[in-house]
Amino acid sequence: MKLLVTGYNGFVAGSALAQAPGDWEVHGIGRSPAAVIASDRGGVVYHQADLLEKKSLDGLLRQIKPDVLLHAAAIANIDFCEANRVMAEGMNVGVTAQIAAFAAETGAKLVFCSTDSVFDGQKSYYREEDPPHPLNFYAETKCKAEEIVLAASDINIVARLSLVMGWPVMGKGNSFLADLVEKLGKGEQAAFPENEIRTPIDVITLGAALNELTTSSYAGILHLSGNTRINRYQMARQIAVRAGYAEDLIRTVDSNALPGRAPRPNDASLDNTRARNLLQTPFLSLEEGLEKSFMEKEKREIKTHIQP
Ligand SMILES: NC(=O)c1ccc[n+]([C@@H]2O[C@H](COP(=O)([O-])OP(=O)(O)OC[C@H]3O[C@@H](n4cnc5c(N)ncnc54)[C@H](OP(=O)(O)O)[C@@H]3O)[C@@H](O)[C@H]2O)c1
Repeated sequence: MKLLVTGYNGFVAGSALAQAPGDWEVHGIGRSPAAVIASDRGGVVYHQADLLEKKSLDGLLRQIKPDVLLHAAAIANIDFCEANRVMAEGMNVGVTAQIAAFAAETGAKLVFCSTDSVFDGQKSYYREEDPPHPLNFYAETKCKAEEIVLAASDINIVARLSLVMGWPVMGKGNSFLADLVEKLGKGEQAAFPENEIRTPIDVITLGAALNELTTSSYAGILHLSGNTRINRYQMARQIAVRAGYAEDLIRTVDSNALPGRAPRPNDASLDNTRARNLLQTPFLSLEEGLEKSFMEKEKREIKTHIQP
């Protein structure tokens, strides 16, 4: 089996790559120089490329010719997407369309990473069949990409991810938890929105679930989220306490009242019943997910410490 993962240096792809089956031929594409994988997996063939360069992407896809693609690369910064629409559309929609067309042509399965942000947050515990209603440009690009992926082939999967937490397995990636703990470590306060309700999933569980999906016969939309529905202010307080800091270092803010910030859904919590029934990967509560994340980080630090 040959797997190709895009977004190699990213938060989500890093975890999936580190847990990819040992007997698979695994390839990763990233834009920056390759980050070191903090796991025993090793053996990932790295290709440095800008996915926006159509010709080189086409060449790479044809050279690697994967059986399965996990497309995790994206411009995932909501405010950046709002301000840089052409680039966001090119990366999140155009590149996804090119990858979906290649997968359909060669019969490869495509697992595409989408987001809970496709919903408007007026309801809670969104299910796979609930209609999306994007509030910002990032979410619009993801909705368009979802439609393209599903129309391209009836074996493809759109995995809608909830807010992802944990430490990057490699590189830096888009980890709010790592940023928060770093800030608290400097004695700084941090503000988190009480109005934004999510069902956070730890990146290790997510990586395992995404790997499982690459061999699954499931097709269509699937929600990957944790078992706890919580607002981001309470979530940050729980993280602060687990990291050994005072919870009152976390302040509350209304994200809808922040000037210059693209609108976010209030309650984008996802119902993960279908994923829990389908996959063997256990889905965790926030407390369990945090424990797993901190334990994994401590394990890695000990390993790095004792290595010569
Ligand atoms: N993190 C979350 O909470 C969350 C929640 C819901 C959905 N998602 C979705 O999950 C996926 C992964 O997110 P993430 O958190 O892992 O994001 P991330 O850490 O920002 O990783 C995204 C990766 O995409 C790569 N990329 C961007 N533009 C590229 C280009 N032109 N050519 C090649 N590579 C490019 C970046 O490469 P460089 O590092 O080399 O620039 C980056 O490593 C995304 O599709 C995102 O929309 C994430």
